Amino acid sequence: MSHSAAAQLEAIFLENFLKYFKNAEARRRWSITRDVPWEKVNPASSDLTADIVQFFSAVEMFLPDYTGKMMELIRRSRGRAWFHANWGYEESKHSLVLEDWLLRSGKRTEEQLRDFENSLQGAEWELPFDHPRQMMIYTMVQELATGLNYTNLRRRAEQEGDGALAGLLRWVAADESAHYNFFRKGVKAYLALQPEETTADLKFVFEHFSMPARALIPGWEERSREIDAAGIYGPRMYFQKVRLPILEDLGLTRQQLKRAGAGDDVADAIADRAEQKAEDARRAVVCRTHSVPPFPEALGPSGRRRLHPKL
Ligand SMILES: [Fe+2]
Ligand SMILES: [Fe+2]
Repeated sequence: MSHSAAAQLEAIFLENFLKYFKNAEARRRWSITRDVPWEKVNPASSDLTADIVQFFSAVEMFLPDYTGKMMELIRRSRGRAWFHANWGYEESKHSLVLEDWLLRSGKRTEEQLRDFENSLQGAEWELPFDHPRQMMIYTMVQELATGLNYTNLRRRAEQEGDGALAGLLRWVAADESAHYNFFRKGVKAYLALQPEETTADLKFVFEHFSMPARALIPGWEERSREIDAAGIYGPRMYFQKVRLPILEDLGLTRQQLKRAGAGDDVADAIADRAEQKAEDARRAVVCRTHSVPPFPEALGPSGRRRLHPKL
């Protein structure tokens, strides 16, 4: 990496982190005890909802690995490292608040929670990619997917009349969406400064993407099938609501989309839409900057414009 590209990337990451932090402090901080309407918890929520909550809490339980191992990889970047410390704090609340709901709804006892935690112990999550740029892409994809999981679970909680679960999931999903936004801006910076490498990495990461801790949580496959059947998250949703929107959002050219592994049909559809949008925007500017007569000009019988219409 050229020195100047590295320095520019670092400056962008730091600026992005400072904006992220300022915004989080001003508008997104929340408290498990104060900001969740616990009085609206519904002990009659379905058992499947409780199983899914426990499953999501298990994914969040590998926090020491997510924070520690990632930090080693990016510690030279002030923007990314400071972001990661803040990210770790926010993620730590996610497993706590999900566990709180399991207890307060009466769906699990303390003992059951500890047994479940013990069943996860000993397993360690490993970095799925070993380059900081690839991890930026991976976390972008993973955060959008995680946010989608929580948003869909919130809808289910609303249907089941659990205001506490719906309320806490709103906070959690807002965190995940802010995380996604930080990573996507980072990927866009990489794309601007290292387009070739980043496009190749997009292909590589998409080809090898799987949700974190997949191999570490007992019963993952079975639980994933239930989550898919409940309309919360599955391979189709990943393709439609994660992978496609990301490819569309990154502003890649037709060639870049193909190099990023989008597949010819998908690449052409996205590129055509982007070109149409650009054309529409260009026309809108032309209309704004050139005065357009409010009515069609009067035409003479021959179809020619009358310069001096008869009074
Ligand atoms: Fe989270
Ligand atoms: Fe997150």
